[in-house]
Amino acid sequence: MNILVLGSGGREHAIAWKLSQSRKVSKIFTAPGNAGTAALGTNLQIDPCDFHSVGEAVLENEIGMVVVGPEAPLVAGIHDFFLADTRLRAVPVIGPSSDAAMLEGSKDFAKSFLTRHNIPTAAYRSFDASGLEEAHAFLQTLDPPYVIKADGLAAGKGVVILDDPGSAMEEVRAMLNGKFGQAGNRVVIEEFLKGIELSVFIITDGRSYKLLPEAKDYKRIGAGDTGLNTGGMGAVSPVPFAGRTFMEKVVRRIIDPTMEGLKKDGILYKGFIFFGLINVNGDPYVIEYNARLGDPETEAIIPRISSDLFDLLEGVANGNLSEKKIETDSRYAAAVMIASGGYPGHYENGKIIEGLEETGDYIIFHAGTKTSGGKVVTSGGRVLAVSSLGPTLEDALEMSYRGAGGISFENMYFRPDIGFDLKAAKC
Ligand code: AMP
Ligand code: GLY
Repeated sequence: MNILVLGSGGREHAIAWKLSQSRKVSKIFTAPGNAGTAALGTNLQIDPCDFHSVGEAVLENEIGMVVVGPEAPLVAGIHDFFLADTRLRAVPVIGPSSDAAMLEGSKDFAKSFLTRHNIPTAAYRSFDASGLEEAHAFLQTLDPPYVIKADGLAAGKGVVILDDPGSAMEEVRAMLNGKFGQAGNRVVIEEFLKGIELSVFIITDGRSYKLLPEAKDYKRIGAGDTGLNTGGMGAVSPVPFAGRTFMEKVVRRIIDPTMEGLKKDGILYKGFIFFGLINVNGDPYVIEYNARLGDPETEAIIPRISSDLFDLLEGVANGNLSEKKIETDSRYAAAVMIASGGYPGHYENGKIIEGLEETGDYIIFHAGTKTSGGKVVTSGGRVLAVSSLGPTLEDALEMSYRGAGGISFENMYFRPDIGFDLKAAKC
């Protein structure tokens, strides 16, 4: 079968790389892709949110399945678009319909879903512009710091955490006044949870699900978790503090009630669910849902899936996921993200990347790269992820750092301390 992967990051390269190993997959198309996905198949210069063009490309290239990487096309309804078109209806879209993707598309929706189905999450209330006084009163009931969230998608920037109630109220006003455009027409204020975060993933056909490897990502730009937030500077899997007891709680208190809740609410969810969790003294709470895989978590978890990913996707498409098997590699995976100097602030594109040959036991997943004049050049803030597997976290990290050290471009930057907080821990 020919497959189309939508998106252009390291996550999409990792998905395409894994699918390329399936004997059931013929050609791989990626839209718009990057220099890494181009080496696995064909890049199509199509915006994933231009559904009409995506549909035409699917028909033209006899594509039998579409795998959606990022959230925007899901929330905008690509799954529904395919179902509504008689020519495209038979082509499964791996990723939820827009009503199901609301779990990511609206924080207010997600919080009310969590509360309605008794799934542990921070206490919250949500407000629109008519509720400023109530927002003020609610803030008085919380201890600092204060967590303020724009309801809608805000390119990962819509969460602000502040220490004093005056600035928190200012932030609420700014969001309601359009700081994040329409995404801030409603604002969620919630209790701050103190703990350590991790990312848990499932794939579901709406009936049953398979648990994928979990991961921890490193969001800050600087060593020691300092500096600005980024899309993610590295990831490791498995997560040493997510041992069996903790993961049993995750399944029993969070994943199973989420599946049940979707069924009760009449929402058919087909695709990946990313549970952004926080471990508070051994108990898991949901910080957020995402309707997709994480990036860079995918670059760490995909190498740990030893069975055929296409087989699972086929199970989602056909509604027989329960008959499929997932096998995972028990080794540790570490993904180190290489960024353009200046990211997440201003940075320059077009730097020629050297050292892309894989000369060790690591994989280079491309994120912000493209081919220009026969050379691979940078075209984004996060440029490459170097992933490897090892018997210990230290081994995996060492190999990924060895790979990263062999790559060079002007102003290249990577965090030197991915996994720093976990190294001594045992699974
Ligand atoms: P979100 O986009 O909802 O994942 O939030 C972005 C980041 O803000 C999360 O990864 C957490 O680090 C932090 N965060 C969000 N909600 C909370 C909360 N209730 N308590 C503590 N930290 C939070
Ligand atoms: N790494 C976090 C995310 O993909 O949202």
